[in-house]
Amino acid sequence: MQRKDPLPYQLLPDTLLAERFLVKRVLAEGGFSIIYAGHDLNLEMKVAIKEYYPFGFASRNHTYSEDVISSSEDEWQTFEKGKKDFLKEARIMARFSVEPGVVSVRDFFTENNTAYIVMDYLEGVTLKTWLEEKEPLSVAEALQLMEPVMTTLSRIHEKGLIHRDISPDNIMMLKDNRIKLLDFGAARNASLAKEKGFTIKIKRGYAPEEQYRSKGKQGPWTDVYALCATLYKCITGVKPDEAIERVYQDELKRPSQLGISIDKRQEDALMKGLAIFQKDRFKTIDELREQLYPIEESANSETTTATTTATTTATTTATTTEITSKATNQGKNPFEIAGEL
Ligand SMILES: Nc1ncnc2c1ncn2[C@@H]1O[C@H](COP(=O)(O)OP(=O)(O)O)[C@@H](O)[C@H]1O
Ligand SMILES: [Mg+2]
Repeated sequence: MQRKDPLPYQLLPDTLLAERFLVKRVLAEGGFSIIYAGHDLNLEMKVAIKEYYPFGFASRNHTYSEDVISSSEDEWQTFEKGKKDFLKEARIMARFSVEPGVVSVRDFFTENNTAYIVMDYLEGVTLKTWLEEKEPLSVAEALQLMEPVMTTLSRIHEKGLIHRDISPDNIMMLKDNRIKLLDFGAARNASLAKEKGFTIKIKRGYAPEEQYRSKGKQGPWTDVYALCATLYKCITGVKPDEAIERVYQDELKRPSQLGISIDKRQEDALMKGLAIFQKDRFKTIDELREQLYPIEESANSETTTATTTATTTATTTATTTEITSKATNQGKNPFEIAGEL
């Protein structure tokens, strides 16, 4: 929803950054950032500007100053640490900007005691918004839609990075039908996966159980889970139950149990991608893809038909809370949830 007047902590329209970028309206807010539409005065083009603003650790009143401040030494230290991570996000995005399926970063810099990432402005809607109108999608439609995301992920993994926050709100559907991956805030080098001291970011329903644990072994399979959770949401309209709940009691229904018509082999593949424990899951996106997209449709392929009524979906809808991005709205501290392990 768009607001006409910016709130006091948001930058005012026409604020100039880095002597080059004009801030326009607020596009979105997460637990750690504010995203503005902006204008690049040099290139004369629209951009998106992501500002580091960790709610609960920062404040600002644009009437007095554009500087972001923290109110205590402790908060300031956490704020500074997060700022470094934010700039790391910018560098990761810049490195992967060459990928056609990743949003391009144009610049990043520090100013106003905080940090900024300038990206290409993507004309479109997030998959989350898109699904609100279109879901559930047919299996064929969903697979077609997610195909480029898989290609991008597979290439990212090849280069040693895991995204760790694949979900419908981090996938942008462009007007020209291209798809771009957003938000590398949770990404980190797979080779550093064992190092402690990394930040965790958990999105309920999409994050696998290993993301909840300090010793959870993360890798491409972590994105496999989130991707399959996204696919599950596309074709059933239901977000999968939270992984940590499933560890104790797994009540995740197969799409066919929710009345979805789906090829048995594809359903098996989807459920294997959603296996609670990493050892039971596909290890790579390519393994998943091989099973999800059979080379040729076998004429006598077994289709599992609806066994229960679609009304079941209502009762199985998972909580829609996103720990990271909505943390502030719930009065929670984003760093407590996405803090250091
Ligand atoms: N380059 C962009 N162009 C247009 N909209 C964007 C762009 N980047 C982000 N957004 C919008 O801002 C939202 C939040 O961006 P994201 O990078 O995912 O931040 P967060 O880390 O707060 O989740 C996205 O879901 C999308 O709606
Ligand atoms: Mg996001």
